Amino acid sequence: MAEQGVNHGRRRFLTATTAVVGGVGGVFAAVPFIKAWQPSARAQSAGAPVVVDIGKLEIGQRVIQQWRGQPVWIMRRTPETLAALGEVEGRLRDPASNESEQPEYAKNPTRSRKPDIAVIVGICTHLGCSPTFFPEMLPQPFDSEWKGGFYCPCHNSRFDMAGRVYQGVPAPTNLRVPPYFFIDDNTIMIGLDTDPKAA
Ligand code: FES
Repeated sequence: MAEQGVNHGRRRFLTATTAVVGGVGGVFAAVPFIKAWQPSARAQSAGAPVVVDIGKLEIGQRVIQQWRGQPVWIMRRTPETLAALGEVEGRLRDPASNESEQPEYAKNPTRSRKPDIAVIVGICTHLGCSPTFFPEMLPQPFDSEWKGGFYCPCHNSRFDMAGRVYQGVPAPTNLRVPPYFFIDDNTIMIGLDTDPKAA
């Protein structure tokens, strides 16, 4: 699997090739500039948190980080993307995330700690496929009013750029948001809600 994208309205995507090393404890080698501290495979499979440097994550770009053997998507959303979140609410199954899984601090319209930075587990809530990133706000074969988001070709589930599921698809809930916090503006830790050192 390899793809990244930038959604600047109708601007072309900024792309960067990525590669996956599969399996529990595997590391998704995202864009080369993303520095991620990785615990040992054993510690990671046991749920150890991972630190991701997002300092060079450009607006509209997504990177993927493995955590607990799952892909976690980290995106810096565009203003257009954020505006579109409100436009699609009437077509969503659980727009307020009342029946979906996310930390309390991500139970908001952007499903995130900071509006522009999204952190989402990239596993479909139907049967576990990993949906494909379609950030461009253009008509798609699967949705003529597409405002950017994720499409799961396994059984046609669709999610917006906050991972919220559309109505009329088999996925029952929004994509999950993992626990995470910002160590600083350019660094996040995935796997914990708060910095244990700050306690
Ligand atoms: S696994 Fe995604 S729609 Fe079935």
